Amino acid sequence: MRILAIESSCDETAAAVVEDGVRVLSNVINTQIELHKEFGGVVPEVASRKHIENVSDVVDKALSDCGMTLDEVDAIAVTYGPGLVGALLVGVSTAKGLSFVSKKPLIPVHHIKGHICANYIENPDFKPPFICLVASGGHSHIVYVKDYNTYEVLAKTSDDAAGEAFDKVSRVLGLGYPGGPAIQECAKSGNPDAIRFPRVNMGESGFDFSFSGVKTAVINYIHNAEQKALEINKADVAASFQEAVTDVLSRHLIDCALKYGTKKIALAGGVAANKPLRERCEALAQKNGMEFNCPSLALCTDNAAMIGCAAFHEYNAGTIADMTLNAIANLQI
Ligand code: KG4
Ligand code: ZN
Repeated sequence: MRILAIESSCDETAAAVVEDGVRVLSNVINTQIELHKEFGGVVPEVASRKHIENVSDVVDKALSDCGMTLDEVDAIAVTYGPGLVGALLVGVSTAKGLSFVSKKPLIPVHHIKGHICANYIENPDFKPPFICLVASGGHSHIVYVKDYNTYEVLAKTSDDAAGEAFDKVSRVLGLGYPGGPAIQECAKSGNPDAIRFPRVNMGESGFDFSFSGVKTAVINYIHNAEQKALEINKADVAASFQEAVTDVLSRHLIDCALKYGTKKIALAGGVAANKPLRERCEALAQKNGMEFNCPSLALCTDNAAMIGCAAFHEYNAGTIADMTLNAIANLQI
């Protein structure tokens, strides 16, 4: 089954053709990062307008890259939430139009489920059940993936998402947008133990996250130094912040896996592109005799191949939308 998938929930306009949920026949991403850089973060209205300008070309390229026409695909899939509502609407409207004219089924996909399904693309042997940490600019969840269509959220953030904290700290350090790669690069020459930033465990289970505290602690550290006219060592601040976030994310993931008796863990979402986080989770998995999986960097950040993969499993479970499909900004798993 060949699915044309569209993703436009944030600042990437993306389309892909994916066969049977694993073979990526084409994967096109038009990123708006350069456009949003000057604002230090994604401006929702600007993102929506750019998606409108880009979406037709991106879809055309996804089809032409694999030598297919719309008639030759079997279904159209689209991310319908969560995300920026105006941005989501561009993908949803485009997918509805394509589905209507081609008379192909329309498959609605949850963005976070898409991120999780990215784990199946390069490693089809990696199958549920497993526990996945999904950390991106908008979400930080630990999800128990019981089978391809059964998900249970075990933990989430009570305030900022991990990626959001990376982006805000990067802005305060003057390192630019997106913050994750900038912090990772700057941290390379820093000492992760130079400053002990807070690690917070939230919720009854203690597995929930809070990243607003660590972000504020970094901002206060910088402001205090400025007031005393002290030079700060940016690399040490970046490395210590990255260490605090990595420590909390990896520990909660492993503790959840131990509590639920799972021997398989995975990463997903933009923050999963973080090298120290990947290495820490892999080392902890090894130490605890667990299997570890993580998509390659390009499949961690937003893309449409992961949506095409998730759509295959949704379709197999009978999930089909009609022309009333709408974008849902705060769609729950
Ligand atoms: O999944 P994604 O592309 O979009 C959302 O669904 O939000 O994630 C984007 C987020 C941004 O906050 C970005 O700073 C973060 O992922 N990110 C990283 C890295 N690469 C991207 N965070 C830490 N380390 C990285 N290498
Ligand atoms: Zn995402």
